[in-house]
Amino acid sequence: MTHATTAEQQIDQRIVDIKLDDRSYPIVIGSGLFDDPSVWSSAGEGNCAAIVTNATVGPRYVAALERAVSHRFKRVINIELRDGEKFKDAASLNQIFDGLLSGRADRKTVLFALGGGVVGDMTGFAAACYMRGVPFVQVPTTLLAQVDSSVGGKTAINHPLGKNMIGAFYQPRLVVADLDTLSTLPAREFAAGLAEVIKYGPILDLRFLDWIEANIDALISRDTEALGYAIQRCCELKAEVVAKDEHETDVRAVLNFGHTFGHAIETGAGYGVWMHGEAVGCGMVMAADLSARLGMISEAYALRLRTLIKRAGLPVVGPRLGADRYIELMRSDKKSEAGEIRFVLVNEHGQASIRSAPDAMARQVIDANC
Ligand code: NAD
Ligand code: GLY
Repeated sequence: MTHATTAEQQIDQRIVDIKLDDRSYPIVIGSGLFDDPSVWSSAGEGNCAAIVTNATVGPRYVAALERAVSHRFKRVINIELRDGEKFKDAASLNQIFDGLLSGRADRKTVLFALGGGVVGDMTGFAAACYMRGVPFVQVPTTLLAQVDSSVGGKTAINHPLGKNMIGAFYQPRLVVADLDTLSTLPAREFAAGLAEVIKYGPILDLRFLDWIEANIDALISRDTEALGYAIQRCCELKAEVVAKDEHETDVRAVLNFGHTFGHAIETGAGYGVWMHGEAVGCGMVMAADLSARLGMISEAYALRLRTLIKRAGLPVVGPRLGADRYIELMRSDKKSEAGEIRFVLVNEHGQASIRSAPDAMARQVIDANC
């Protein structure tokens, strides 16, 4: 749904609702959102807010966010983390707790996660833990975070032995995705976000896949209309899945298309060497290849997905870690059961399923794509 705010502003806002009983919340998508007070009304108000960001995003957007929310809170604490996936760890989490405790943040303090998926995941986890849970708001500033990580309540930090292994399901009370922030996003980070946009097509909505193929150039050139629609559609699709299976006991796992191979790439190459979205893009190429080898899709469909991922500016050949290392890393994936690797695989009707595959076949996929 799209609506205009005040007549003077004439800003189109798209709103997607996450429906989870008393944990329901809106995602507001649009331009100029930092300047529209009505957008922040469900952020809460009170004594204290804390903005958690990083050294790259903070200098660009903290002042605008502070202006947007400072009239709602008596004081605002700023916490600036180091930038990078390799700092998505216990030390950074502790830095958030240090900032909150030394700033005397009470249990009604609202945390604002200003940044990409790394800041969002860590701030969400800090909010879940601090004084056994304080409210938080996601203010995603990367495409990946706007279409995926800020929505649905997965929060985590990495462990040296595995990605996102320490975390919690904890929903924000509001998500504000301002399209204007994407103007400063470097091309590589933007492409990484496109991987998660593409992901939604083959697993949930073939018409959306057609739309992405037809509009990939508009998306790459950051056309606001195209971006607004893509972010809205991704959030709608994710909202449907999360409403059915918040804690990933079942269907939510389809959102991990490309992630089994992708997490192995990210962990195996060393956190931060491959961006999460890049690894997912390449992981989708490999998962599509595996789907084709299992007879679930044609080679032509697998090639169609590979071509789109490549057009988005993403790598389609994985790092040469060796098949043994890939298999070892994939065995510790959260979807594994009794040591058996489980993959999200697709058919040609825009549907996904979770299946195991013979190790020998997974090795063929690795050898053919890395
Ligand atoms: P990121 O948070 O590292 O951001 C990428 C880079 O862009 C960083 O250097 C960041 O500082 C910079 N940046 C952010 N916004 C910017 C802006 N507007 N202008 C200029 N630079 C900007 O990476 P990401 O791709 O946003 O997120 C990846 C993370 O998200 C991974 O840790 C992944 O595990 C996680 N993730 C979580 C979920 C979930 O459901 N919780 C889903 C997908 C991914
Ligand atoms: N990004 C996958 C999920 O939220 O379930």
